[in-house]
Amino acid sequence: MLSYRHAFHAGNFADVLKHIVLTAALQAMLRKPTPLVYLDTHAGAGRYTLDAGTTGGRSEAQEGIGRVLTARLPPLSVTAYLEQVRALNPPGRLQRYPGSPALASALLRDQDRMLLHELHPADHAALASLLGARARCKVLRSDGLAALKSALPPLERRGLVLIDPAYERTEEYREVPAALKAGLRRFATGVYLLWYPRLSPDIAVPMLDTLAATLTRPTLQLELSLGPPGDRPGMDACGMLIVNPPYGLADTMSEVLPWLADELGRPGGGSRVDWLIPE
Ligand SMILES: C[S@@+](CC[C@H](N)C(=O)[O-])C[C@H]1O[C@@H](n2cnc3c(N)ncnc32)[C@H](O)[C@@H]1O
Repeated sequence: MLSYRHAFHAGNFADVLKHIVLTAALQAMLRKPTPLVYLDTHAGAGRYTLDAGTTGGRSEAQEGIGRVLTARLPPLSVTAYLEQVRALNPPGRLQRYPGSPALASALLRDQDRMLLHELHPADHAALASLLGARARCKVLRSDGLAALKSALPPLERRGLVLIDPAYERTEEYREVPAALKAGLRRFATGVYLLWYPRLSPDIAVPMLDTLAATLTRPTLQLELSLGPPGDRPGMDACGMLIVNPPYGLADTMSEVLPWLADELGRPGGGSRVDWLIPE
């Protein structure tokens, strides 16, 4: 079953959090000249047109990236992300939004490599047409969680893995910790970014408990809530685990998350940045 289409949600508050973390983590890793691999397990279409029949998508984007683009005094660490979104749009308008592969592609250098996994045929085709011709980039229509076994460790011995499932099947909450554990067994020093939703009722809790009990590498946990817990049905909060966070990322996110909560949240919303597994 692949009914989830990211176009309906592109640019929403969850994408804003995820993509700010992704660009900041990659920028920190790219300070070293040695090559790295970027592995996107759930890559999506790569770029989204916000008004192409995706009415829901457009309003979610207006409440997410739309607000952030017009915010006064954003932290310097979100500049690279905002510049990429602005570069896709006419001045003062919000028509298109970059997905994780496009954001990563714009930052990576000639010596770096990309592995992009996307199972949905239409999104895979869109991604292949956007990035398929890029040097040192593979766009694969195969299971991204399985790639945590088959593609790791990378030859480069440096890499960032983005795990961004749609969680449309409840089994994914069990498959994700198992796949992350398998990846870490092969590539213990990789940087792994895992996104998860906080829903009401909160079905991510057992997955987070499993991860807290089994992860052994330093892991940062970030959460962003738009309102008080249980205030609204559906997804009103989300979070990320960052295994082996690059140096400085915890401090950067401690500045960015409260700002994001102010820009995107309602009274009673908020954010947290904590070590799930201390350094
Ligand atoms: C949340 S979206 C990804 C968004 C993208 N990472 C971004 O930030 O722009 C999840 C995507 O994963 C795809 N997908 C679902 N299961 C998958 C799997 N096992 N392997 C690869 N792709 C999968 C879905 O078709 C969907 O496009």
